[in-house]
Amino acid sequence: MFDIDKIRKDFPILGSRIYGKPLVYLDNGATAQKPVSVIEAMDRFMCETNANIHRGIHHLSAESTEIYEQSRETVRKFIGAASTREIVFTSGATSAVNTVAYSFGERFFVEGDNIVVSEMEHHSNLVPWQLVCGRKGVEIRVLPFADDGHLEIEKLPGLIDERTRIVAVTQASNVLGTCPDLKKIISMSHKAGVPVLVDGCQGVVHGKTDVKELDCDFYVFSGHKLYGPTGIGVLYGKQKWLEEMPPFMGGGDMVDRVSFAGTTWAELPLKFEAGTANFIGALGLAEAIRYVGNLGMDAIATYEDELLSHACERLGTMPGVRIYGNVRPKCAILSFNVEGIHPLDIGMVLDKMGVAIRTGTHCAQPLMAHYGVAGMCRASIAFYNTHDEIDIFADSLQRVLDMLR
Ligand code: ALA
Repeated sequence: MFDIDKIRKDFPILGSRIYGKPLVYLDNGATAQKPVSVIEAMDRFMCETNANIHRGIHHLSAESTEIYEQSRETVRKFIGAASTREIVFTSGATSAVNTVAYSFGERFFVEGDNIVVSEMEHHSNLVPWQLVCGRKGVEIRVLPFADDGHLEIEKLPGLIDERTRIVAVTQASNVLGTCPDLKKIISMSHKAGVPVLVDGCQGVVHGKTDVKELDCDFYVFSGHKLYGPTGIGVLYGKQKWLEEMPPFMGGGDMVDRVSFAGTTWAELPLKFEAGTANFIGALGLAEAIRYVGNLGMDAIATYEDELLSHACERLGTMPGVRIYGNVRPKCAILSFNVEGIHPLDIGMVLDKMGVAIRTGTHCAQPLMAHYGVAGMCRASIAFYNTHDEIDIFADSLQRVLDMLR
């Protein structure tokens, strides 16, 4: 599909050695590595252009502002939003969900209402809702998933009633990799007049996303999982909702006129961008989007799916290994446990072999509770991983199991 050797050269860190072993980086779900084009673009900007945006009359400020707004346009195109007014830069997906939970909740929640959240959410798409629901006296209803990893969306109509204010659901579980049928969830919810927030943290990375086609009301994702820098994320919201919602945070850039008598807000999207925005992060994210766009999101999805199948085949034949989430569609995330061995022990010994996986609860404790486990091992795959690396991972895992058993 694409030239993997060339791609790997674009990511300097992939040439590292860990404890003398070549790095096999399979913790991409937590954060992805950055191509040199992202690193250099940010570096160049800081050397040549740096100035605050939307504030200065001078040349550098104008150039900086122009680059920031171009980055917004790059994001808009990437997710297929109708207008840049609907693209808010945040510090990450967590801050994007908090913005919606606070502002949408402030405007639309009253005591006795309810919201629906899926059982497979990571904490970032649960805890912000718990905060606002606690404040407002709003109930959280849970849309369950089955042991095989499919979200039981046939139960959604039974959870929604005339007091339901929003449905919050992931595009792909960060633990199971399984992808709920978003189109169905959104059309079921809309039929009942309920808007939907989609957490795209993992989904946006592994395939094409079109928010207009999905018809979701809100969509959030982080830059650092999409091969961009940390500290930058995106909140997409339909204009009609963002217009009605009050600001989340107050400060510079989100205001129109300020006096002691009162303040009016800036137009969208700046109403939700208080303070100095992370304009360097935004340009880094735009560069990352250009990078994955050149490879093609469909090509990325196809290649990663081959790697996932390879990994599932290898681990599927190992006695005592249980893989969680086997239904398709599933993005390139593979969580597992091994009978009688603690996941942390597996992660620690794999690390000594140069293989980086994540172990623990993966910021999804309710999901761990579903399976009755204290934690899991997770290998999360990116397009720069190779079949050889999957074999190194599987062979190393086999050695770890032989050792620990
Ligand atoms: N939610 C991130 C992960 O899945 C941090 O690892």
